[in-house]
Amino acid sequence: MNTNRTSLTVGLALALSLGLVSSAVQPASAESGSELTARSVCEAHELRALKEADPHLEISIPKEFDTPWPSRSACQSHEAALDEDTPGLVQPIPFSHKHHAGEFGIDCQYCHSGTDRSPSAGVPSVEVCMGCHSQFPASYDELSGIQTLKEHWENKTPILWEQVNRLPAQVQNRHNRHVKAGVECQRCHGQVEDQDKVVVQEDTEWWPWGLPTQTLEMGWCITCHRDNEVSQDCYTCHY
Ligand code: HEC
Ligand code: HEC
Ligand code: HEC
Ligand code: HEC
Ligand code: HEC
Repeated sequence: MNTNRTSLTVGLALALSLGLVSSAVQPASAESGSELTARSVCEAHELRALKEADPHLEISIPKEFDTPWPSRSACQSHEAALDEDTPGLVQPIPFSHKHHAGEFGIDCQYCHSGTDRSPSAGVPSVEVCMGCHSQFPASYDELSGIQTLKEHWENKTPILWEQVNRLPAQVQNRHNRHVKAGVECQRCHGQVEDQDKVVVQEDTEWWPWGLPTQTLEMGWCITCHRDNEVSQDCYTCHY
């Protein structure tokens, strides 16, 4: 609900900056109808930005929404991760790597702690999320993703994340072997820290005539193994 409102405001913000509805707000006088009132912290951030661009704008920010948290970039990442038009899957919670791993620099292995020990990387438990989020101020709960997170916490139910990268059942990838050999996550998953939604990477390096291929194809695995003198024996990867 809040997110709908946010997108309305962002839509309005866009329309305003494009001058589409300028007539409605131009008379920045005492005319009561022309004042824009924030209905959430996220809207308040957008209204402040609008006013910076157009100082004549009359804005009003109720006290309960006059707080820095969630930050403007958190609101924007949340919005982008919810948006079906952002490439990638819409997950049960609009969790953004751009925000967590990028802006806040949280280490990949803080959440994917299995990568150095086990073949699979694993996704963090609700407990790991709440280790940070239980300390956030109440105003943070306006984000629908945080409400969903807390429902899982209270009901003790896991979050059913959709798996993005998936190999056929008869093929094995070993995260621990790659991580121990110093192959960075980004070599296989791309710049995850720049993405609001994780997407399977395209790889054009090994295909000399530049046809895009998915990184999870056999030829891509084999090429890197050949370059690094790692086993290309069928049974290395196939059961
Ligand atoms: C190490 C601390 C930490 C952990 C662990 C953590 N977060 Fe966050 N989270 C943050 C910070 C910091 C922000 C941003 C605060 C701001 O700028 O408003 C944030 C923002 C968010 C947001 C809003 C922005 C966005 O990404 O959509 C959501 C939703 C969220 N977290 C969900 C989660 C979930 C789900 C997990 C567990 C999978 C999790 N967080 C784990 C620290 C953490
Ligand atoms: C705060 C916790 C957190 C941090 C830090 C984090 N991740 Fe994640 N990661 C998640 C969650 C939750 C998911 C599942 C939801 C999704 O796909 O966005 C996930 C999913 C992924 C996926 C997709 C998995 C699949 O289904 O194929 C990849 C790849 C990934 N992370 C890589 C990284 C890399 C690389 C970093 C460091 C640059 C990183 N993550 C940092 C929590 C985190
Ligand atoms: C050599 C390439 C490679 C590297 C390096 C790599 N991954 Fe992966 N990752 C994959 C492949 C392939 C899959 C799909 C695995 C499957 O379906 O069995 C995957 C799946 C995942 C998944 C979701 C499924 C699971 O295994 O839990 C996450 C999360 C993930 N990777 C995170 C990371 C993180 C974080 C790093 C760095 C610490 C990393 N990966 C390094 C290739 C790689
Ligand atoms: C970016 C380079 C790179 C890519 C891409 C890559 N690998 Fe690897 N892989 C390595 C390296 C380096 C090692 C060596 C680890 C070691 O020395 O123990 C390795 C080791 C392995 C091992 C363990 C080998 C053994 O001897 O037990 C398996 C299994 C494996 N890779 C599977 C895969 C699969 C499946 C893919 C594709 C989905 C893949 N790899 C893609 C670099 C890569
Ligand atoms: C470095 C890892 C790796 C090695 C080594 C490897 N494969 Fe694969 N193979 C894969 C991956 C990943 C897939 C699934 C993705 C795909 O279909 O391209 C796959 C898929 C296949 C498939 C199914 C293709 C299809 O279209 O369904 C066959 C058949 C196959 N491999 C045969 C072999 C044979 C034979 C060898 C030994 C000469 C071998 N592979 C060595 C990683 C490997």
